[in-house]
Amino acid sequence: MKTTREKIEELARLRAEALLGGGTKRIEGQHKKGKLTARERLDLLLDPGTFQELDMFATHRATDFGLAEQKILGDGVVTGYGKIDGRLVYVFSQDFTVFGGSLSEAHAEKICKVMDLAMKNGAPVIGLNDSGGARIQEGVVSLGAYADIFLRNTLASGVIPQISAIMGPCAGGAVYSPAITDFIFMVEGTSHMFVTGPSVLKTVTHEEVSFEDLGGATVHNSISGVAHFAIPSEAECLRAIRTLLGYIPSNNVDDPPLLEAEDEGARADEELDAIIPDNPNRPYDIKDVIHRIVDRDSFFEVQAQWARNIVVGFARFAGRPVGIVAQQPAVLAGVLDINSADKGARFVRFCDCFNIPIVTLEDVPGFLPGVSQEHGGIIRHGAKLLFAYCEATVPKVTVITRKAYGGAYDVMSSKHVRGDINFAWPTAEIAVMGAEGAVNILYKDEIDRAADPEAKRQELIAYYQDKFYNPYIAAGRGYVDEVIEPRHTRAKIIVALEMLKNKRDTNPPKKHGNIPL
Ligand code: HXC
Repeated sequence: MKTTREKIEELARLRAEALLGGGTKRIEGQHKKGKLTARERLDLLLDPGTFQELDMFATHRATDFGLAEQKILGDGVVTGYGKIDGRLVYVFSQDFTVFGGSLSEAHAEKICKVMDLAMKNGAPVIGLNDSGGARIQEGVVSLGAYADIFLRNTLASGVIPQISAIMGPCAGGAVYSPAITDFIFMVEGTSHMFVTGPSVLKTVTHEEVSFEDLGGATVHNSISGVAHFAIPSEAECLRAIRTLLGYIPSNNVDDPPLLEAEDEGARADEELDAIIPDNPNRPYDIKDVIHRIVDRDSFFEVQAQWARNIVVGFARFAGRPVGIVAQQPAVLAGVLDINSADKGARFVRFCDCFNIPIVTLEDVPGFLPGVSQEHGGIIRHGAKLLFAYCEATVPKVTVITRKAYGGAYDVMSSKHVRGDINFAWPTAEIAVMGAEGAVNILYKDEIDRAADPEAKRQELIAYYQDKFYNPYIAAGRGYVDEVIEPRHTRAKIIVALEMLKNKRDTNPPKKHGNIPL
């Protein structure tokens, strides 16, 4: 029989054993790959001294393949709760030094436990993924355990924010848990996501491709749009997660965190008056506008490398977090296409789930014409963005900086889809289509009959531009609430958001809508 002292010493010994995970040799291996351990990552992610670990002594129950003799305390994942900037979060961090971070029944139970706690207590879940996937030795039990997580991811969606960081391999069906979460961070060079890995591809499709070229951070941030952030190092990645959380509430019934406005409030910015080129076909960088109107250094861009013709991200106005959706005239003239519609729609829906007002900056010549866009389903994808804006009940403030043409005018948080306050700059051009296209349709015969068809065409284009390339017809009908000088944009948005802060709007009761996926 052990004495009390011996029992307490035993606890310390077991803890020390658990802290070592797969042992010093494997920890060294992890460091050699340029990766931190599961615990080192949590130390960087959470406020110092706040981590409370759960299930440190959990072990798997498998016996086949010699596993009965190989039990490692914690079973490949460190779970618990802690704080970020003083706010409660739940975390799991997969430990690659233990069976390659692979997911066993016990490992999944630990993750499910923190997810259940997070749902009951209304706080975000952050998952740090570094795993060889299903614990091969556990077979279907491991597959079922994944599904237990997928179900929780789905039920938690829109209730609590869910953030995934990929810090090593994430392969096979394992990718679908991060894919359901709200944001995926990837570390450049050391993280990979794919459904089917390079060796299987070689056999099945005869394609030869490296891990990096198949599913590295660059691929998923610039080509597939699966991930939202590509970050050079693990430490920066964990810092970026902390930053992101600063813009979002802990759950769907909380408001986003309001900061003391550290900026000089409603400053006017004369340079904005000169930002739109005289020639309507010349581009400008919408990010210059964003940086000038939001609280200083508060813009935090999401999916910066993918579908760059639309810009989305978080920012603050007088300390109040918002989601920004803006066309980027400097890329593809800011046109809406399949990817930009998807990107915008998902971001708008995130903001709407979590009570984050949406500020839309609109300069859109329309939807991208082309066979590949039509065959790729621009109708279905464009409809997602329209649907997302229509169903969003958070405060919606829109600024038309220049073009608002065609269906895209309706889509981009127009008054008709419940935009609350819609501003336009004097440079706004609100029309069914651009002048050249309109004139060619309306006056085809007249142009053909003219003695000098080109001169006639130019004359008619000038007439059309004069008539429609302004915000005043829309303002005359109340589709635009106010035409404002660009320099006052920040002040106007701050006042509008303040006015809308208690906005209440609802959609008809239903199980859920049927967004065109
Ligand atoms: C059990 C695993 C494992 C797994 C790795 N290990 N993956 N153990 N189940 N899935 C163990 C290894 O045996 C090894 O143990 C240790 O983890 C480290 O693995 P290494 O191969 O030495 O590391 P590395 O060279 O860095 O390669 C990492 C890897 C590779 C690319 C992840 O291990 C790998 O390809 N693993 C298998 C991946 C896979 O096919 N998983 C199933 C995917 S399907 P020791 O004792 O030597 O340290 C899937 C379905 C999910 O996950 C379905 C959800 C619905």
